[in-house]
Amino acid sequence: MINARKPKIWYGGDYNPDQWEKPVWDEDLRMFKLAGIDVATLNVFAWARNQPDEETYEFGWLDEMMDKLHADGVGVCLATSTAAHPAWMARKYPDVLRVDFDGRKRKFGGRHNSCPNSPTYRKYSVQMAEKLAERYKNHPALLIWHISNEYGGYCYCDNCAEAFRKWLQGRYGSIEAVNRAWNAAFWGHTFYDWEDIVPPSALSEEWRGLNGRTASNFQSISLDYCRFQSDSLLECYKLEYDAVKKYTPDIPVTTNLMGAFKELDYHKWAKELDVVSWDNYPGLDTPHSYTAMMHDLMRGLKDGQPFMLMEQTPSQQNWQPYNSLKRPGVMRLWSYQAVARGADTVMFFQLRRSVGACEKYHGAVIEHVGHEHTRVFRESAELGRELFELGDSLLDAKVQAKVAILFDWDNWWAVELSSGPTVALKYVNEAHKMYDALYKANIAADVVSVEADLSGYDLVIAPVLYMVKPGVAKRLEDYVQGGGAFVTTFFSGIVNENDLVKLGGYPGELRKLLGIWAEEIDALLPSQSNTIVVRNPVDGLSASYSCGMLCDLVHSEGAEVVAEYGEDFYKGMPALTVNRFGSGEAWYLATSPEEAFLQDWLPQLCASRGIAPQVASAPEGVETTVREKDGTSYLFVLNHNAEAASVSLGDRTGVDLLSGRTLSGEAELPGRDLWIVKLDD
Ligand code: GLA
Ligand code: ZN
Repeated sequence: MINARKPKIWYGGDYNPDQWEKPVWDEDLRMFKLAGIDVATLNVFAWARNQPDEETYEFGWLDEMMDKLHADGVGVCLATSTAAHPAWMARKYPDVLRVDFDGRKRKFGGRHNSCPNSPTYRKYSVQMAEKLAERYKNHPALLIWHISNEYGGYCYCDNCAEAFRKWLQGRYGSIEAVNRAWNAAFWGHTFYDWEDIVPPSALSEEWRGLNGRTASNFQSISLDYCRFQSDSLLECYKLEYDAVKKYTPDIPVTTNLMGAFKELDYHKWAKELDVVSWDNYPGLDTPHSYTAMMHDLMRGLKDGQPFMLMEQTPSQQNWQPYNSLKRPGVMRLWSYQAVARGADTVMFFQLRRSVGACEKYHGAVIEHVGHEHTRVFRESAELGRELFELGDSLLDAKVQAKVAILFDWDNWWAVELSSGPTVALKYVNEAHKMYDALYKANIAADVVSVEADLSGYDLVIAPVLYMVKPGVAKRLEDYVQGGGAFVTTFFSGIVNENDLVKLGGYPGELRKLLGIWAEEIDALLPSQSNTIVVRNPVDGLSASYSCGMLCDLVHSEGAEVVAEYGEDFYKGMPALTVNRFGSGEAWYLATSPEEAFLQDWLPQLCASRGIAPQVASAPEGVETTVREKDGTSYLFVLNHNAEAASVSLGDRTGVDLLSGRTLSGEAELPGRDLWIVKLDD
């Protein structure tokens, strides 16, 4: 359990007293109490203050602050301060400075700026983590470690090049094996010596491509560099993890993740975290289902264990193009959206709004005016009171889902590094389209890795499973054989883990399971479309839907054809097939459909598998989840609309934990409000 040392939904966030004079500290503490804040994330960017030179460590400010917070009943999420190196380090040891994609050696500046393979960075970051752990190991305020901050960014320096070669030696053994894995004979790339291998960057194999993609001449090399940089940063994290664990084996450790953040393979990272935590910054126009999917992705990183909402803004951001205020009630609603999906903490960036630099217009619980008589403070304090009253009732409750959406970082990298068939293909978008159709039907989904145990699911959806890693096809076959339903899409089953095509016909290793052969793949212009014509439109399906982007030209090899293309020279060829395999079924959706198709088809497929929506009916904009604990189910119903919504609970009845109101049948939920219904048995 995350909250064992403070058994309630933690409430607080990033607090940077190191940027303020002491009189402000006392005001902060006074207002924390008013807002019900009981956890502060300290020391995130204080390396320069903690270690003003190579030999000197000064923790006086932190000692004092930890004591003060503790005296006021506020626990500490203690960061190790290693996310931005001090200026003296950059001056004295330039190896800490990264080399960027364009080959430029960076100078001091910014943050998240250290080369992950810099011996200096590794030495001093570990030393800092150790000093902190040794010093605060028995401090009663210490609740959890926060290693560094939002790891990310790639480096292309000579130290990284050298480490990349070593990483490749570990992965492949010999240069001959590398040449084979990368198909290096292409364009005469045969590597004779490890020294021939350089990082793929704008100086070698890559360039900035269309549609925000990194383009590459050699996908296999680029793919391995993504893996290597993710691993390099992970090693930095692990070194600090080990350093703090030496002194505090019982204090949990996390680092704040960022949802669908492309650069790091979070499935690999999560194995090294005691607790998943993440920073949630939707824009006002981000679909609620997208935020929901991000929460589910984060929950799925560690087998559905609850996670921490480490950061969100109480009101606005500064770094989006247009930083709208969260409307009254929205901060509360989005906080509960996280809780509904498995968060056991609600934390902000930031508790006090800074006076200078780029985050001075970023929202905070305490704003520039400096007192508590603000809308944002009132809403924060109101939420603080509610979370206090909820006590430990929801802690550790597990979200229930019978549908899994598979998500894989290697696949993401490979799909979007691909040269052809289209730049329009965005992996996260395709996953979100599937997720959104389920979300709108109030059907819960987990978002899990391709290595996850699938046995608890009745439906598994793998959008664009382009890369089939070793063992995955067999596990999917076993799952379907045993009675599961599986859905995959166009551009699946194409390559192995090194982006080498599986010869013998698409969809490669999935061909037997799906009972089809995809002979060609057509890419449509954004202005073009085709149609999906349903052969027997029953159960709410229409006769025809539009589709586009990619159209696989498929032949059935035993699969039943459920829908076909309506246009072009492949009119009449399968657009949707289902193959009975063992006691289950495997579906292939050969093209990217309009959303209406998924909204009609997926709920119907779920119904056929006995997967029910969580409420009988609710208008669009109403979100539902169920968390379960000790045999009790808590139904969350959130109304994202500004207007009231009429929700039918069907035969479910229970009491709303927030208002104490008894709910049954059809009930009206005010705009931007929610229920947490403790369901009767
Ligand atoms: C991130 C960082 C914080 C802060 C916020 C601003 O999540 O971790 O330090 O910069 O963004 O939104
Ligand atoms: Zn480097």
